[in-house]
Amino acid sequence: MQVTIQKTPKSRLSEVDFDNLAFGRSFADHMLVAEYADGAWKSVQIQPYGPLSYQPAMMSIHYGQAIFEGMKAYRSKQGEVLVFRPEENMKRFNKSAVRMCMPEVPEEIFLGGLKQLIQLDNAWVPEKDGCSLYIRPFMFATDEYVGVSPSTTYKFIIFNCPVGSYYSKPLRVRVETEYIRAAKGGVGFAKNAGNYGGSLFPTIEANKAGYDQIIWTDAATHQYVEEAGTMNLMFIINRALVTAPTGDTILDGVTRKSVIQIAKDWGVEVQERLLSVKELVEGISSGAVTEAFGAGTAAVIAPIQTIGFEGKDYELPARKESDFSAKVFNEISQIRLGEIADTRGWIYKI
Ligand code: COI
Repeated sequence: MQVTIQKTPKSRLSEVDFDNLAFGRSFADHMLVAEYADGAWKSVQIQPYGPLSYQPAMMSIHYGQAIFEGMKAYRSKQGEVLVFRPEENMKRFNKSAVRMCMPEVPEEIFLGGLKQLIQLDNAWVPEKDGCSLYIRPFMFATDEYVGVSPSTTYKFIIFNCPVGSYYSKPLRVRVETEYIRAAKGGVGFAKNAGNYGGSLFPTIEANKAGYDQIIWTDAATHQYVEEAGTMNLMFIINRALVTAPTGDTILDGVTRKSVIQIAKDWGVEVQERLLSVKELVEGISSGAVTEAFGAGTAAVIAPIQTIGFEGKDYELPARKESDFSAKVFNEISQIRLGEIADTRGWIYKI
């Protein structure tokens, strides 16, 4: 499909302090906007990043047909721009679309459009260590209609943000035993906006109690660990990598599946299984649980220092360079920067 390009008359690049990048606060010059109507993708345009105008009755605002993805592009020492596993994000995006009765976005728009967008905004991909260009594709329903049914028109947009770290220190997380994120048969596996909206209230409650994040537990019993509000959760228990199995209630994270693959390639035992909160906290106390960390695109590998449960804090051992999470973070970082061979075909060159 032909992408029409309307360039910004004035770049905002010089307004951004690339030495002090916060997460999600600066936006690259251009965005891609594709329109869907009458059962087909009609037009794809790259245009200056900026406000869009919609009717108050736009359906996504009322009935929640809104999905998104997160990916990152890195600049290698040779100056190339490398995106980490965008095909996986595209597949997950389209699974979310099917669940939310939205149209799938074809590869030529999702990946082809992304390529052209980043080529145009190449200068926005940070060079500094630990920084990247966070890519945010999203889609929302645009019909002007009051009534609960799928919209017939949609917008698919990609914008990009130069970012630093999402988390800058080891995390204190609290096990959530009152509220739930997702239930069997629900939309927990989809990356739809409502999943995040629903996480805000319990997360703020946990913040007030001195925690950075929450650990969601299963909706039926609150006994089993699911994921955190912003990332999947992984643990090293008796030297094995343990994480909740994907299913209706767990986001099939791209970083999660990359960590699992690397662990298997290194000969580390991987257990995708139910992990009870009881096993987790008793394991921390006995020393069986030696590491806890989050895995996600924004978070990358986020070490967890403290797990709060029923008013008690369980402290993980201090982080060491020899930890699995430290080594897997280095491995993923080097792959993404093109510093070691991409033997698994995870890098998409712009
Ligand atoms: C991501 O990791 O890309 C997400 O979408 C999570 C969000 C906390 C930024």
